[in-house]
Amino acid sequence: MANIKALIFDLDGVIVDTAIYHYKAWKRLANHLGFDFTEEENEKLKGVSRVRSLELILEWGGVTKSAEEQKHLADLKNSWYVDMIQEMQPDEILPGAKEFLEAARAAGLKTALGSASKNSETILQKVGLTHLFDVIIDGNKVSASKPDPEVFLKGAEALGIAPKNCLVFEDALAGVQAALAGGMKVIGIGTAQNLPGANVVVAGLHEVSIELVQTV
Ligand code: BG6
Ligand code: MG
Repeated sequence: MANIKALIFDLDGVIVDTAIYHYKAWKRLANHLGFDFTEEENEKLKGVSRVRSLELILEWGGVTKSAEEQKHLADLKNSWYVDMIQEMQPDEILPGAKEFLEAARAAGLKTALGSASKNSETILQKVGLTHLFDVIIDGNKVSASKPDPEVFLKGAEALGIAPKNCLVFEDALAGVQAALAGGMKVIGIGTAQNLPGANVVVAGLHEVSIELVQTV
């Protein structure tokens, strides 16, 4: 018996599919700098902070930029990304996510968001899910990126629940590693091949139930 008392959710790729907007904005930035990157390379950006994503993209393009230029480029990408997420609607919530959050809360489980994004509050508000989280910990509140467990440990602490009684939902390998490093259970969203170490892997929250939560 896992004795799970709190659920901590990653945002991008678990609750909403914002990966396409990140991809479009980063691709536009790379094209603006005179190169491109592949969809396979894009997979490596999932769960990775904005600053680290830019470093990887510049490496792929063989481009060197000063710290000041990097700040400008990250801000430019974010301005394009923010323009896109302003248009987000509740129908962009991934299948089963809202229903599972509601069922979890009705069953007495606490809920937290644990995301690397600094745009998480805007996204939750646009899709109308803010009220389903007791606590929101995101890129504005942490200093270390996943696979460091800081974001999840801060979520557990804010909820007042011990890490061993928390279950994390994550679509990125760095996020699965962060949850395990924090001493938490983790359900991977994706494929077992891409998410080694996860206690259970499902295709999406539509495949998860309150019963499954207590058997991980
Ligand atoms: C993660 C995404 O959730 O947030 C990454 O998977 C993204 O792709 C990161 O880079 C930071 O997001 P933002 O919105 O602060 O640029
Ligand atoms: Mg994610």
